[in-house]
Amino acid sequence: MKTLVTGGAGFIGSAVVPALQADGYDVSVLDNLSFGSRNFIDVDDNQFYFADIRDKKGVERAILAIQPEIVIHLAAIHFIPYCNQHPYEAADTNIRGTMNVLNACKKLSSLKKVLFASTAAVYPIYDEAVNENHELLPLDIYGLSKLTGESLLKEFYHETKVDTIVCRFFNAFGPNETNPHLIPEIEKQLHDGLRIIKLGNLTPKRDFIHTYDMANAVKKLLAVKNIGYDTFNLGRGIEYSVVEIVEAFERQLGEKVIIEVDQSRVRKVEREHLLADVSKLKKVAGWEPVWGIDEGIKNLVENWSK
Ligand SMILES: NC(=O)c1ccc[n+]([C@@H]2O[C@H](COP(=O)([O-])OP(=O)(O)OC[C@H]3O[C@@H](n4cnc5c(N)ncnc54)[C@H](O)[C@@H]3O)[C@@H](O)[C@H]2O)c1
Repeated sequence: MKTLVTGGAGFIGSAVVPALQADGYDVSVLDNLSFGSRNFIDVDDNQFYFADIRDKKGVERAILAIQPEIVIHLAAIHFIPYCNQHPYEAADTNIRGTMNVLNACKKLSSLKKVLFASTAAVYPIYDEAVNENHELLPLDIYGLSKLTGESLLKEFYHETKVDTIVCRFFNAFGPNETNPHLIPEIEKQLHDGLRIIKLGNLTPKRDFIHTYDMANAVKKLLAVKNIGYDTFNLGRGIEYSVVEIVEAFERQLGEKVIIEVDQSRVRKVEREHLLADVSKLKKVAGWEPVWGIDEGIKNLVENWSK
């Protein structure tokens, strides 16, 4: 299956691309390398399209040259503090960029499936696990841009009847992080030899899912026949607080780590919980996560010496 992964050189792409290749998918990647890295993926130069999804003509040229049967649209600006500081760039990339990808896709006769990376940030603050039917109320420009993306995908499906999957990713962790999220920030300080580390809010809990489990879920969803238009949460279904993540590092290091709250890092508006109900994904795609927080952090710590 000829498959295009936009944003395939990014953090999640660096797990999705090799997972697809391992199953025999013929993968091309389109990326402007603004956040990703060419070194994260093993794709031939003639299957790597250095392009910006905001460039309508460039995107169309690449997509028509590839003639993909599957498009996985990951390219986006997604680090929330960056989006808040650069709202026009975030909206332009995540909304107009998605329009450009979909407009080019409409010109393909080869296309069988599209999968769009949406986000848990489309949900409002809620203290229990959210399922796909929960009300949608993004708190920031990032969530709003992804919710608009979902609408664009729905319209695309109605127009083309090409199977369209919206996947709401929760908090990814694993190798090749591109943005200064919590886990890479803890890793950076510990890797620098610090055992008294400075962090912001300590109580919020997040549903951390390993990128290898995400990649496997993406493959399982692609394998579902005649899916039509459907939406799935993609999380681990377990939430961990900041303190619990630090404790997982302590277990791997066999050392005590002290946390100091750095007021400059404390977010004024913060969700205390963000937990996925993933029963729909498990039922429809037959997916089960296999990476626990300890195995995932062990793998990260082992990579420090490489
Ligand atoms: N990492 C998470 O926890 C998380 C959670 C929810 C949703 N998501 C979504 O998953 C997708 C992948 O996220 P990620 O964590 O791998 O982020 P990432 O920033 O590592 O990957 C995004 C990729 O898109 C590329 N890109 C950005 N702007 C582009 C543009 N204008 N044209 C072409 N390429 C461009 C970047 O270079 C990068 O390689 C994104 O759509 C993101 O919104 C991620």
